[in-house]
Amino acid sequence: MKISRTLSGRAGIVLLLAAMIAASAGTARAQTAPMPAHHGFQDTKRWAKIFESPERAKWQKPDEVVKALALKPGDDVADIGAGTGYFTRRFARAVAPGGIATGLDVEPGMVEYMKHDAEKLRLKNYRARLVKPDDPELKPDSVNLVFFCDVLHHVSGRVAYLKRLQPALKPGGRIAMVDFKSSSPIGPPARMRIPPAEAIKEFRQAGYRPVREFHFLPYQYFIEFAPIPGAAEARRPGR
Ligand SMILES: C[S@@+](CC[C@H](N)C(=O)[O-])C[C@H]1O[C@@H](n2cnc3c(N)ncnc32)[C@H](O)[C@@H]1O
Repeated sequence: MKISRTLSGRAGIVLLLAAMIAASAGTARAQTAPMPAHHGFQDTKRWAKIFESPERAKWQKPDEVVKALALKPGDDVADIGAGTGYFTRRFARAVAPGGIATGLDVEPGMVEYMKHDAEKLRLKNYRARLVKPDDPELKPDSVNLVFFCDVLHHVSGRVAYLKRLQPALKPGGRIAMVDFKSSSPIGPPARMRIPPAEAIKEFRQAGYRPVREFHFLPYQYFIEFAPIPGAAEARRPGR
């Protein structure tokens, strides 16, 4: 990104974060004029520079996030709203051999980006697929982990959406969510953020309970959810 190449240190981080705000919500927090709350991510080249910036890694701590999730070789991961595959490629390495990490996104440009990324990195277990905004159409019993980073605030009808994911979880399967804290100086405008208590409430309504919370990210909360016993079985077709 032009900003991060020309600036270093704190100033660079601050400007990068401002760009992430725009990436997340299409408007900055300080902005007063009404703007559309959501926008697309069609300009893959532009967003790739932001998502993949080395400055982001300092606060996003992607390797620590993946480590915290304690994935095992052979696990299958669905990274929903994967963007450029920032986490997907790391998941692919964490679940090899035997496991598959799939980056799912509503933007065809992001899906193409991930496919090239997988080829370039020669990661055969790193896949990418285009999905509908209201349903990623995961196969029943197909994933050990569903992961969302800075995505769920873009999803409308979240409770119904989350319910739809239940049949896809293998026994012991989990959903992890990373999203901006209410107190974070960066992130989408307040009206778009999902406070953690609200996220937990919505997940409960969809049939999940929080099982682990991590506190090492400065700007985001990070919660892992598991199906409430019985809820997933009840929703599994044919059971
Ligand atoms: C802020 S980016 C985050 C990208 C990635 N998770 C990361 O951490 O680098 C949000 C991504 O979610 C995608 N997205 C938005 N709504 C979506 C939906 N309903 N289903 C799947 N992807 C969605 C966008 O196209 C975009 O690539």
